[in-house]
Amino acid sequence: MTGPATGTATTRVVTLARRPGGEPTSDDFAVAELPVPVLEAGQLLVRNAFMSVDPSMRGRLEETEKHYTTNFQVGEPLDGSAVGRVVASSDPGVPVGSCVRHRLGWRELSVVAAAAATVVDDGQAPLSQWLGVLGQTGFTAYVGLVRAGELREGDAVFVSAAAGAVGTAAAQFARLLGASRVVGSAGGAAKASLLVDELGLDGAVDYRGEPVREGLRRVAPDGIDVYFDNVGGDHLVAALDALNLEGRVALCGMISQFDVTGPRPSIDSLILAVLKRLTLRGFIVRDHEDLRPEFEQRVGGWLRSGELVSKQTVVDGIDGAVGAFLGMLRGDNVGKMLVRLDPQVTD
Ligand SMILES: NC(=O)c1ccc[n+]([C@@H]2O[C@H](COP(=O)([O-])OP(=O)(O)OC[C@H]3O[C@@H](n4cnc5c(N)ncnc54)[C@H](OP(=O)(O)O)[C@@H]3O)[C@@H](O)[C@H]2O)c1
Repeated sequence: MTGPATGTATTRVVTLARRPGGEPTSDDFAVAELPVPVLEAGQLLVRNAFMSVDPSMRGRLEETEKHYTTNFQVGEPLDGSAVGRVVASSDPGVPVGSCVRHRLGWRELSVVAAAAATVVDDGQAPLSQWLGVLGQTGFTAYVGLVRAGELREGDAVFVSAAAGAVGTAAAQFARLLGASRVVGSAGGAAKASLLVDELGLDGAVDYRGEPVREGLRRVAPDGIDVYFDNVGGDHLVAALDALNLEGRVALCGMISQFDVTGPRPSIDSLILAVLKRLTLRGFIVRDHEDLRPEFEQRVGGWLRSGELVSKQTVVDGIDGAVGAFLGMLRGDNVGKMLVRLDPQVTD
């Protein structure tokens, strides 16, 4: 082993205190101090620099709701994506000082299997971007457009939650991949302006200020060819209405449906998919690893050339992690919501 011994160290960890009864609150979580396990062969001790908070964690708080990964257990630590620096290593392939991305976030120090960690190059891009536009977030946007949405040059594209992490990436990637028109939706006038003024979209709908169906008709009067759906509900129904013949929908997520208790839009709108010969394709990003090399090469290039703007909202410290998660669900973020776990890291 290289680096400091573990076994006596402790780390602060966010745990699930109880299952939320409806919309989650900060009382559903706790911060605990737990011992750091002694490294076994092939393991790394990582000082986490940043961790990601993700909408998918909302479903994992429930007992029975089925999601695409395991649900959290009461009294146990949460987990999720994080990046950090290796401070002790029992794997000669990943020496001390390496930067890695892994899935044991929500704690300041993580012991991870080297085989389950990905080495990232903080010389190529700041660590935070390996969770954002160059990480799973950007990859979701890329897979959704290229594979699920089968984006073609000249397509008119609509992205919902367009001021969020996946949304800011998807809207910009669509333009860089040859879309003729890119429009987006977001909550609030400030976010809608940002989409046009800072990210270069051709139009934006503030869904809190006007019905999304009306807004979409205004910003995409000739209809849309691809809808990148982060929201579901009324957004999906409005997009079905706006889609042109043989249009495509990349079903990425449905954040508007998490805590809905009232009536939901009728599934009868799906008749439009028949009449317009639409393709609606759901996808889970981890099924598309074959696209990862071309994604990193293309997006890395756009970042270096300055064609791509990377937006982030950073909250400091593990004590702010739960607030960051709850805030992201409410829309407090622009771009990728991250928690900085190591105050020494400045990017
Ligand atoms: N399929 C996959 O493999 C995969 C992978 C990663 C993420 N996703 C999905 O991608 C979507 C975006 O995730 P993200 O990480 O980029 O999160 P995000 O967009 O950065 O954050 C969530 C955003 O959702 C918006 N929102 C919240 N409630 C809403 C509502 N009722 N109606 C409309 N918008 C609402 C908020 O923005 P406003 O202020 O604009 O409301 C908020 O900023 C989610 O649906 C997520 O589940 C899917």
